[in-house]
Amino acid sequence: MKGIILINHAPTAPGLRLLGIGPKFSLINGLSKLRSFLNANAFWAKDRSHQQIKKMLLNSTVVISLWHNKRLIGFGRATSDQVFRAVIWDVVVASDWQGRGMGKLILDSILKNKKIKSVEKVYLMTTNSSDFYQQLGFKVNRNQTLLIFNKNQN
Ligand SMILES: CC(C)(COP(=O)(O)OP(=O)(O)OC[C@H]1O[C@@H](n2cnc3c(N)ncnc32)[C@H](O)[C@@H]1OP(=O)(O)O)[C@@H](O)C(=O)NCCC(=O)NCCS
Repeated sequence: MKGIILINHAPTAPGLRLLGIGPKFSLINGLSKLRSFLNANAFWAKDRSHQQIKKMLLNSTVVISLWHNKRLIGFGRATSDQVFRAVIWDVVVASDWQGRGMGKLILDSILKNKKIKSVEKVYLMTTNSSDFYQQLGFKVNRNQTLLIFNKNQN
């Protein structure tokens, strides 16, 4: 699609995290854009601070951002041990871009990434987008129970 650029960030995402570089190496305020984007589009990722987002990017194995010109319209990331297990986190598409294949584009890039593609099992948790992931090959697993040790107790 015209004007759409997907960035598969270098390990630890220094471009986004440190330099504020966006598509075509344009200067953008990457962390602020990501923070506003998550605040607006991801109910579970609101109110993450600048510092927390920086640390999150630093410690993610795969970071994907999707741009329409200089606007951030999609994001996704994963953590991986590169052999046995990986977990996909924070797959988000801007509400006015949903339903146009952007989520699939992000998920495909994560799954094809060399640090994910050979991993035995890729997990994810979702509150209300299970159908989206099932369409793309994920299966609901009823044999296992999701347990959470929640520092914030909510
Ligand atoms: C879930 C989300 C990432 C999907 O992205 P998207 O760009 O709208 O999805 P796509 O257009 O790439 O859809 C890919 C396929 O999945 C289908 N699909 C998308 N959302 C769906 C849903 N909620 N239920 C069923 N199918 C869905 C599409 O119809 C499409 O099928 P097709 O290839 O046969 O046409 C996006 O809706 C979103 O950001 N939602 C809010 C944040 C969120 O809940 N993220 C999930 C966190 S776990």
